[in-house]
Amino acid sequence: LTHLLSTEGLSKDVLTHILDTAGNFVSVSDREVKKVPLLRGKSVFNLFFENSTRTRTTFDIAATRLSADVYTLDIARSSTAKGESLLDTVANLAAMAADIFVVRHSESGAPYLIAQHVAPHVHVINAGDGRHAHPTQALLDMYTIRHYKKDFSGLTVAIVGDVLHSRVARSDIHALTTLGAAEVRVVGPRTLLPADLAPMGVRVCHSLKEGIQDADVIIMLRLQNERMSGALLPSSQEFFQNFGLTSEKLQWAKPDAIVMHPGPINRGVEIDSAVVDGAQSVILPQVTFGIAVRMAVMSIVAGA
Ligand code: CP
Repeated sequence: LTHLLSTEGLSKDVLTHILDTAGNFVSVSDREVKKVPLLRGKSVFNLFFENSTRTRTTFDIAATRLSADVYTLDIARSSTAKGESLLDTVANLAAMAADIFVVRHSESGAPYLIAQHVAPHVHVINAGDGRHAHPTQALLDMYTIRHYKKDFSGLTVAIVGDVLHSRVARSDIHALTTLGAAEVRVVGPRTLLPADLAPMGVRVCHSLKEGIQDADVIIMLRLQNERMSGALLPSSQEFFQNFGLTSEKLQWAKPDAIVMHPGPINRGVEIDSAVVDGAQSVILPQVTFGIAVRMAVMSIVAGA
C-alpha cells in the first residue's frame, strides 16, 4: 500500500491487516508506552484545506507517537491565499523532504491529484475529499465495530442521515461489504440518498423504523449543510422528527446495538443528547481508536 486514498478496491486481507496492526498499537497504549520509533526521521505534513477537529488532531498524535516529525500547514496563512496552486504548494513542501502528506480537501479527488505528482517515495493519505471518501474514518469505524461485535458476519449495520453528501458513508459501505457484513442499510429521505446505491450492495430504507429495526450497529450522520443548496436543505426540526435518533426509537434496534457517529455531532438534529451520552453510544471510543488506526495506516504506507 503506497497511498491510502479510498477503501474502495481494498481487499479483505488488506483491511484486516490494517485493523490487526491498529490492534497492536492499542495494546502499546494500554501498556502506557507512549511512543514507538517506527517513523523516526520521517516527516509527516498535515495539509488540511478544510476544517477538522478529530482527524487532524489524531493524525498529529499518531505521527508523534510513531516518532515522526510533524508539520501542520496553516492553510489560512499560507501562500495559497496569494494564488499558489495545490500542486505548487505540495511541490514546495516536498522540496522540504516530506515523506507523508495527510490531505483533506473540499474537492473530491484532490488527494489523488497529489498522489499522481509526488515522487515515488512520498506517500499520500486521504483525510477526507469532498463527498468522495474518508478512508481512515471508515477504518476506525471498522475497528470500533470489530472491537464491540468481534466479527462482521451476521451483522446488520444501518447508516442513517445525509448519505448523499457523506464521504464517510461511501467509505464505510465499501469497507463493510468487503469485510462481510450480513446487511448494510442506508436510511434517509429520498433527497439525501444518492441514486447510485444499488450497485454498492446495500438496502435502501426511507423510514427510520424499517432502517434500524433489529440492527446491530447504527451509524448516524449529520446534515452536511455546507455541501447543500437551499432547496435540498431540510429543516432541522423536520429532520429530527423523521430521522433523529432518540432513546425511544433506539429500542427498535437490537438491545445490544451500538450507536456510532463520525462527528461533528449536531445534537437535536440527527441525534438526541440522551443517545449521544447514553450507554449504547461508542462515539468517543471511536475517536480514541482513531489514533491507533492512523498509526497503523502511516506505518504501513511508509513500509515501517
Ligand atoms: N470525523 C471527522 O472527520 O471529524 P473532523 O471533521 O473533526 O475531522
